[in-house]
Amino acid sequence: MVDIDIAYTDSANWNEADMRARFDWLRDHDPVYWSEKDQLWVITKHADVEYVSKHQEIFTSALGVRPMNVKIGLIDEAEPRHGQLRALINRGFSPRMVKILEETFMRLTTKAIDAVAQQGQCDFVESISVPLPLWLIASMLGIDENDWDRFHHWSDSMIAAEGNLGDPEIAAKAGQAYVEYATYAMKMIEERRKEPKDDLISILTGAKDAGMLQEFDEMPEGAAADMGVAEIHSDELIKLCVILLVAGNETTRNGISGGMQLLIENPDQRQKLLDDPSLINSAVEEMVRLVSPVHSFTRTVLEDVELRGKSIKQDQKVLIIYGSANRDAEFYGDDVNEFKIDRGASHLGFGIGSHFCLGANLARMEMRVTFSELLRRLPDMEYADEGPVFRNSALVRTCENMMVRFTPERGIENAA
Ligand code: HEM
Repeated sequence: MVDIDIAYTDSANWNEADMRARFDWLRDHDPVYWSEKDQLWVITKHADVEYVSKHQEIFTSALGVRPMNVKIGLIDEAEPRHGQLRALINRGFSPRMVKILEETFMRLTTKAIDAVAQQGQCDFVESISVPLPLWLIASMLGIDENDWDRFHHWSDSMIAAEGNLGDPEIAAKAGQAYVEYATYAMKMIEERRKEPKDDLISILTGAKDAGMLQEFDEMPEGAAADMGVAEIHSDELIKLCVILLVAGNETTRNGISGGMQLLIENPDQRQKLLDDPSLINSAVEEMVRLVSPVHSFTRTVLEDVELRGKSIKQDQKVLIIYGSANRDAEFYGDDVNEFKIDRGASHLGFGIGSHFCLGANLARMEMRVTFSELLRRLPDMEYADEGPVFRNSALVRTCENMMVRFTPERGIENAA
């Protein structure tokens, strides 16, 4: 039997094969499992992850979505503020904005593929998965292109701290990255207040300018809302910049790496997609289901509640495991572990309920464009060595490198 008595919040334990075996066992034998080592409940069935996610009044995000209670903003905001902030930031994710961003993303994808197309091999993570979401978020926020390397470094340092805060070096680097990025973001916010541009920060700062409020930050919270004006304070703006960087970057990066892994390891499905490119949207959903780039989030219980016969007490924490829910045979059937690009099933990879991923449509667009272009230009990618290398993380499935080879593209003129 697999050893289930481990700390589920400790990144060191998140070796994929071992964790999958544990969750397979837990779903069948103890789907609402009390983890002594973490002092929280581990929730592994599709129906239960959905139930917990949809009942904020019992399982709140407002006390943090990671076990350490670290608050990062928006994702762990209580209503009604969460809904107000979400409505505001959603303006940056409107269909019109996503359309504009798709054009930008197409250019970025062409640039990334051009850089490797004639080499015949590359580290897929370094050349494709890392730069694409990073460049898009950076250009969306309006970060100067000369600063994109620093932006990359801040993102990596902050995400590396997850489940590793006991390591003083990693924690110090994450803290420093946060301060540097927050300082940078503050400067940008001030600049956009004076001179708005066509970027997300201008949309957010413009929210208050639209209300013609001069000394906005000095106003008591809620004052502008009382006047029917959308409002956002500078500290909230900075937190939004941080969450967009962290939430939009590492997640999509690993969705792309994991998606490529699935295509390489399932040549019949890749051929099917090459034969019928119209299956791309359903292929992307199936990738997100099986990869489940976000492993887990936490909720805090507001009142005593019973789940599958277990008594969960007020103030206890639950850990919802997206990747386990997405491999629940009771929901998907016996072929649950197979990659089927035309499966057409829903999944919980982007969460569900009021905190459903704000960037889901953006991430879907990024994966659709990336794989459509890769299959069109470099259709025979395969591993150049024994396969991808992962770093253990309790938060995001993290592929560190994936060496691939392919038939070099004959000339960049093919890249039109
Ligand atoms: C494949 C890529 C992605 C995956 C798998 C993913 C996954 C998730 C999940 C599971 C949640 C739910 C959290 C919860 O219920 O507590 C979430 C929320 C969120 N995601 Fe994503 N995400 C992805 C891409 C993105 C992108 C590209 C952005 C932004 C540019 C983004 C921004 C956010 C934000 C802001 C939230 C919080 C929403 C709220 O609390 O209302 N995500 N994401």
